[in-house]
Amino acid sequence: MMGLICNIEHFHKRSGPLKFFLDTANIDEIREAYSMGMVDGVTTNPSLIAKEGRDFETIIRDICEIVDGPISAEVISLDVEGMLKEARHLAEIHRNIVIKVPMTVDGIKATRVLSQEGIDTNVTLVFSPLQALMAAKAGATYVSPFIGRLDDVSQDGMVLIEQIVQIYQNYTFHTQVIVASVRNPLHVLESALLGADIATIPFSVLAKFASHPLTDKGIQSFLSDWNKSKTC
Ligand code: G3P
Repeated sequence: MMGLICNIEHFHKRSGPLKFFLDTANIDEIREAYSMGMVDGVTTNPSLIAKEGRDFETIIRDICEIVDGPISAEVISLDVEGMLKEARHLAEIHRNIVIKVPMTVDGIKATRVLSQEGIDTNVTLVFSPLQALMAAKAGATYVSPFIGRLDDVSQDGMVLIEQIVQIYQNYTFHTQVIVASVRNPLHVLESALLGADIATIPFSVLAKFASHPLTDKGIQSFLSDWNKSKTC
């Protein structure tokens, strides 16, 4: 894993604080995290939608009713025309819809057209800095590097984030970096240290860093001391 301290001099300061997107299509999880004030947006993908066993567009509409922020909905087509047809239809559902497009040659072509039409895009399944550079040059609103899946094949996913942030800074691209395939709280911590724009976080991971055993222990001991003093 990349050293947290030794790379500090390379860190890139973004304009706003790290945004938290929720990486789920589950309405209960979205409601719960939103009630904490911790959801700036939502990302879905075909696997997350399939897990819910409900109609795709209904799920997307439901999410748009809960969260007032960017909501990524992914196209299924692999050819440019098919992607554009799906994208234009999805974009009509709600003003907050962001079209998730796979990082392929056709995906890049579609991103370019959608960007010219003023439709927000999220280029997904990004595994190299040059893919991220292409996405930015095509006018992508967001880019989604999958760091957990890189870690899974023994490649440090956070190095990819560091390189993309550096490239975007070098050339002042406005494409926002969504750290995706987040598997644990350290991925979120390192995203913040590197100056990524957004981390899209599974609910289970958000729940993990919302609490700390020492916080719980401290509350218990404060309460116990308080109650003892009342009985004296
Ligand atoms: O939303 C896409 C991405 O976050 C998927 O994560 O855990 O399936 O690699 P994962």
